[in-house]
Amino acid sequence: MVKKKKLRLKRSARKPMIIMGVIIVILIGIFVFYTSTKSELKSLGYSNKAISSIMQKFKWSYVMDAGENQTLNAAFESSEYDPDNLDSYRKIAYQDQKDIIKNINTLLDKGYKTSEVSLILSRGNNDDVTEFAKRDKVQYLDEFFSVEYSKLANYDRYVAYQELENNDAETTVLLVNMDFDKEEYVDPLIIDKFDEYTLVNKHRQLSADYVPDDLQAFDEDEVKTGEEVEAEASVVKAFRQMAQAASEEGLSLMVNSGYRSYQDQEEIMRIYLDAYGQNYVDNYIAKPGFSEHQTGMSIDVASATVNTFVESDEYSWMMDNAYRYGFILRYPKSKEDITGYKCEAWHYRYVGVEIATYIKEHNITYDEYYIQFLDNER
Ligand code: DAL
Ligand code: ZN
Repeated sequence: MVKKKKLRLKRSARKPMIIMGVIIVILIGIFVFYTSTKSELKSLGYSNKAISSIMQKFKWSYVMDAGENQTLNAAFESSEYDPDNLDSYRKIAYQDQKDIIKNINTLLDKGYKTSEVSLILSRGNNDDVTEFAKRDKVQYLDEFFSVEYSKLANYDRYVAYQELENNDAETTVLLVNMDFDKEEYVDPLIIDKFDEYTLVNKHRQLSADYVPDDLQAFDEDEVKTGEEVEAEASVVKAFRQMAQAASEEGLSLMVNSGYRSYQDQEEIMRIYLDAYGQNYVDNYIAKPGFSEHQTGMSIDVASATVNTFVESDEYSWMMDNAYRYGFILRYPKSKEDITGYKCEAWHYRYVGVEIATYIKEHNITYDEYYIQFLDNER
């Protein structure tokens, strides 16, 4: 009897215990699934914020199928997430821009394809894209923006210049980025970031108080005028190596000028204006703030023996060898239309061996090189 009673008790307790057990197993299963899914998403580079949103939206298998994808990560992190655009987010190349998802949504709404949205995002910063997204869908998108160094902000200028000059799209982009659609000295860019690559020309101005931070004086016997001449230390060093190599071939390189302050340039301009007139000054002398000499990266080279440098053996040697020491002839004869200056056989800019070699091999100016390869990084 006693035994029978015990058995009955056990039977009545079995059902809830089974239910409890099943619940516990399910909970453990869910826990294991959640933790392993989260850790897999984490290993694919998704942030905790994105992962929470992915889990809430039941999109883990979609995201795992997509794999590592920064745009998807940004989309799930964003309050602008639009489920209708999920497949598009997946295809659009990521850019580190705070409003990327909002801008993608707007651009998709305007009718741009995902490949076009990727292109747009890559051609400007967050503000440029936000501005561009406000305008109606544009007509010539691929044409201009497939040029790697094109800029969203210049779109209207590309269209206008293309109509005016009828160049191919790449030439249009290059020339507009070089400000060829603007008058010289009118509405210049005021340079606010400086390094050894800073480009200065008739469209790019240094402030009056800009002074390079590592100026070094040339030795007295290196300067033809006998006056003190300074340049950036790296330029002085490279010049010395170059002069040494030239001297081994019986040639004697010197300098006439190097760093010039804004005030020095004002003075030079005044002297040359009095002596030779406006036309000469326009062709050979930069206005104050627009001279590369103010960067400390340029030197006027001289021959110790021949006064007209272009007639010297030193000039011929420089034509063949300057690039090996990182110097380029900055204002060549064949590029007067691009540089805006008449040829100056004596004026060399230090850009380092790699860039100088590229410029020589491709027969381009520093203006073109900078716009194509350095502008967007600086
Ligand atoms: N002679 C060059 C262009 C200058 O004045 O900077
Ligand atoms: Zn010069």
